[in-house]
Amino acid sequence: MSTTLITNIGELTTNVSSPLDGAVPIGGARPDSRTVSGDSSASRDSISRSGHPGDRFGTLTDAAVLIEGDRIAWVGPASEVPAVPGGYLEVDAEGRAVIPGFVDSHSHIVFGGDRATEFEARMAGERYAAGGIRSTVAATRGASDDELRARLRGFLDEMLTQGTTTVEIKSGYGLDVETEARLVRLAAEVTPEVTFLGAHVVPAEYADRGDEYVDLVIGEMLDACAPHSRWIDVFCETGAFTVPQSRRVLEAGIARGLKPRVHASQLGPGEGVQLAIELGAASVDHGTYLSDEDVAALAASDTVLTALPGVEFSTRHPFPDARRLIDAGVTVAIACDTNPGSSFTSSMPFCIALAVREMGMTTAEAVWAATAGGAAALQRDDIGVIAPGRRADLVMLDAPTRVHLAYRPGVPLVKKVWKDGVAVR
Ligand code: NIG
Ligand code: FE
Repeated sequence: MSTTLITNIGELTTNVSSPLDGAVPIGGARPDSRTVSGDSSASRDSISRSGHPGDRFGTLTDAAVLIEGDRIAWVGPASEVPAVPGGYLEVDAEGRAVIPGFVDSHSHIVFGGDRATEFEARMAGERYAAGGIRSTVAATRGASDDELRARLRGFLDEMLTQGTTTVEIKSGYGLDVETEARLVRLAAEVTPEVTFLGAHVVPAEYADRGDEYVDLVIGEMLDACAPHSRWIDVFCETGAFTVPQSRRVLEAGIARGLKPRVHASQLGPGEGVQLAIELGAASVDHGTYLSDEDVAALAASDTVLTALPGVEFSTRHPFPDARRLIDAGVTVAIACDTNPGSSFTSSMPFCIALAVREMGMTTAEAVWAATAGGAAALQRDDIGVIAPGRRADLVMLDAPTRVHLAYRPGVPLVKKVWKDGVAVR
């Protein structure tokens, strides 16, 4: 098993207020992905000297992280690294910042073609409409598995380079049984976080027959896609699916053992958020147009609101007010929503910069939303934090603080990336 020490970290963001909660002794039993246990009380005092007490982002200065195999084994002051039998590979961060790997909990990266012309028209004043999805459906149906796979892997590579270590991937550009099944199968080759989104939009051949298309989605299409998927999603919006149609889709998915997540209130206000909460969705995504009732219901629920600021950037809609949400007690995540229509960025640093500049978040809140927030939106507790027993997914920035992610927008600040303990960049 390989052991790596990252030391001389100028600013470490752990996302846990006490990084030693759940510590496991060096060389001790390895917890599985969902359980962290044990204690390391010997180092607790030294953490409070180097950490920021009461800081929910778990910020440490002059810190070190020890990685054993695919897990984090120890976190603490660089001056107090424990002895490791057998030694370790040492990586000197030279005062740089280290954060958890980004968890991008919303993407649509299995598709053919692109829509650069549509984007350019929008920048010249055209409005974004859900119907544009249909042109990508035509290009996706016409692409071979190998073409789609090569494209998909290219996007993943692009994401990893920018610090994203976990990606959720949706289907939704097939919209017939055969193509939707191809898309979830291709996604399942590269991530466990696969979402069946057969209810993305009503395809052209079902024009004006939305209810019949929903019958297909919850029948034969769900049968073909459920075995390869963890999640069920629906675009609950004017121009896509009504609230009753969305309910049918989500309830059918839940009955098949899939967990719900919902696209809602992207283009205007609606009842999708309330439906998502009622059905216990892990996340409701977009939330660009939220009523006070939506915000209160989200705050009282376990449903995460996943903001997708690349969409507002690229469709010229107003950015959601994350300050209002956070102050009300809503858990907010940030994701890229990489897709050829509404948001063709794969850069979590870019979305963090937008969230800070346009959505009223502090940089610490935006980094939390892009890491621990994404993990919450995927109901994962093995990622999104840097703590003993968790997956060793980390990003070293070529900057002394996480603030630089928003302060230096557009600059490639990701210096090194570890995924499952392996230095991949
Ligand atoms: O999340 N909102 C629905 N689906 C995508 C857009 C897809 C497209 O325009 O191709 C989204 O923004
Ligand atoms: Fe989306």
